Amino acid sequence: MKSAAIGVFDSGIGGLTVVKELAALMPHEKIIYFGDTARAPYGSRPPAQIIDFMNQFLRFFAKQEVKMAVVACNTMTALGLEAARSMYSYPLVGMTTGVRTALEATKTKNIGVIATQAAVASGKHGKMLKELDDAARFYPQACPDFVPLIEQGILSGSVLEAAAKEYLIPLVKAKVDALILGCTHYPLISPLIQQIMGKTVTLVNPAGETARAAYRELNKRDLLASTGEGSIKIGFSGDSVMARDLSQNIIRGCKSEFIKAELEEYAII
Ligand code: DGL
Repeated sequence: MKSAAIGVFDSGIGGLTVVKELAALMPHEKIIYFGDTARAPYGSRPPAQIIDFMNQFLRFFAKQEVKMAVVACNTMTALGLEAARSMYSYPLVGMTTGVRTALEATKTKNIGVIATQAAVASGKHGKMLKELDDAARFYPQACPDFVPLIEQGILSGSVLEAAAKEYLIPLVKAKVDALILGCTHYPLISPLIQQIMGKTVTLVNPAGETARAAYRELNKRDLLASTGEGSIKIGFSGDSVMARDLSQNIIRGCKSEFIKAELEEYAII
């Protein structure tokens, strides 16, 4: 049904960086966003638990009768998306890796990716890079402190800067000239990342590519909404005052409202 909503989800506020691109590209769509702020971060959790949480989201969205779900989380995409595809009756779109874009941008063939521990451990970006260009050198870096800080609304300041320098200076030293932001939270601190990496380094944010992939999938199935006003409904599982303020900033200019949302009831015990 063209008039059904698109479900979008992440562990917290990060996935709203993808919602922003989806809403810009498909202004007539109804979007329901769910951020599991009560249990973020996911990136330091065991893979089986991350996959379990992803399926809770997908059962929630099945109940909402969405026409598609966008996994606005690199970690869940890397660990569980392929296996989940056959389990749900609606199409799923995950985060694109950004590897092709990074290969287009690089001159040194030194490509970095910053992501959560679980996403780095999955090896997904490195495998894809090797497949596309065997001569490229790959520098993965887990950044476990970023998501907890960003979820607290810390987008600048000395604590974040110290963590960022620890993660990024080795990539500067390796002469990385294209850096993939492999977590949907990281575009929220891209000015700081750019400042440390230097202005000649291309930061690749896969959110735009992911939104275009979602568009193509809906178009292929003749499910694009082409009339009517779009809307964004946002639910958070945790104490949401901070998350609400941050989300208003991320999707500034878009019409949105907050809904109450629980995820645990979609757990299979
Ligand atoms: N934003 C998510 C991602 O893109 C995960 C953040 C987390 O909860 O660790 O990987």
